[in-house]
Amino acid sequence: MIEITNWKEINDPNTVKVIVDKNNFALYFSRSTLPFPRDKNNEISYFKHKGIYAFRKQAILDFYNLPMGTLEAVEKIECIRFLEYGKKIKMAISTSKSVEIDTPEDLRRANVLLKKKERNINNKHRNFPMVPKVVFGSGSFNQLGSILEEKRKENTPFIFLVDAVFKDNKSFLERIPLVENDKILFVSTAEEPKTSQVDVLVSEIKDQNKKLPSGIIGIGGGSIMDIAKAVSILLKNPGSAADYQGWDLVHNKAVYHVGIPTLSGTGAEVSRTAVLCGPERKLGINSDFTPFNQVVLDPDLTVDIPKNQWFYSGMDCFIHCVESLNGTFLNAFSQSYGEKAFELCKEIFLTDSLTAEEARAKLMMASWHGGMSIAYSQVGVAHAMSYGLSYVLGTKHGIGNCIVFNQLEEFYPEGVALFKEMVNKHKIKIPKNVCSVLTDKQMNTMIDVALSLEPLWENALGKEWKRKITREKLRTLYEKL
Ligand SMILES: [Fe+2]
Repeated sequence: MIEITNWKEINDPNTVKVIVDKNNFALYFSRSTLPFPRDKNNEISYFKHKGIYAFRKQAILDFYNLPMGTLEAVEKIECIRFLEYGKKIKMAISTSKSVEIDTPEDLRRANVLLKKKERNINNKHRNFPMVPKVVFGSGSFNQLGSILEEKRKENTPFIFLVDAVFKDNKSFLERIPLVENDKILFVSTAEEPKTSQVDVLVSEIKDQNKKLPSGIIGIGGGSIMDIAKAVSILLKNPGSAADYQGWDLVHNKAVYHVGIPTLSGTGAEVSRTAVLCGPERKLGINSDFTPFNQVVLDPDLTVDIPKNQWFYSGMDCFIHCVESLNGTFLNAFSQSYGEKAFELCKEIFLTDSLTAEEARAKLMMASWHGGMSIAYSQVGVAHAMSYGLSYVLGTKHGIGNCIVFNQLEEFYPEGVALFKEMVNKHKIKIPKNVCSVLTDKQMNTMIDVALSLEPLWENALGKEWKRKITREKLRTLYEKL
């Protein structure tokens, strides 16, 4: 089934609508407007039945043996037969639009759509959105109240998703400009962000509010940035966050969302992706609706970060630059941002020329530029392998990248040499032998997750990457970590 929003289609008897229970089991199929909205102001989703079936053998035999019931006969919808005999049909949500081809006119429409899709796939130049509004500077967080006031919709709150590490930080929490029924939800970042975590937050927000909130404000590190982006998308798109992991699967615009990083390096505040661990993979929700509508970059918010975390997140930025600048997707756009961020990282992590305040401000901008650089290019080997590590061992992104990058001289000799200098200068211990405890099954899952990230490998090693990175090669690389 797929969500439909066009009233002509919702009321069209040729479009079969379906309603489902909380677990997505079909309640009824009909050619009528289903459900009928007595109060037009209620927010309700309509679903079109697409009619792609998967049967168990017994279900087909039952269907053949059971006589047609009255409801099936009157609606002329065959799957009603299962419901009339008390059997269950589990529905799955699709996000890809399709057209039925019943008439020559439908065929013409389908051909036009196919041509349009081909044109999009073959686009030589990427057309991607950037964050439209950003405020930068020490103390800029204090402007948040006035920024939000312009965006407030009548009687609907702003929901602040705040990293749970701030739960006892009274003086910081008092600075969050709560008005009327605005609410803070504390979000744990003890583990990498998950699609299930996003689903729970979305249900909680929907259950507690009759209408959609005025906006979602994420305050925290990269994990909170990703969760805030994903929650704002899922509030306007049906199903689970896992349904949207991939490229351009989101159809409806997200609710207004603001990113306020309290940690610099991930670039999540500027990127077009919300990276999440799902039931089958770690992958981003990459879409034009993912980027924040507003970002607040206040370097003062990064004052209290523990040293290790500061280093690991900073290295995420450094690795973004190395992977982008050494990638086959590089162009002048990515290069200009990547080179600036690379220089800033060297200044911050290898010299003693900056005050703490200058270093915080520069790392915040390095993070931004690093994110912009990979927006038009891609990351590479370290990120592909680090995603596998996170998925199987739950290793957090920053430290995972460091563990992997530490062993990647073969791919990034200059970058790894500089990285090792930074590690030594700041006396950071990078964990080793992390894969020695893995079972064969876990190792294979790790390899599967890493290999599924095709654009990252293509950027790192070119179109022929599959010849260079076999499962055996990847196993050897993982065993070195
Ligand atoms: Fe990263």
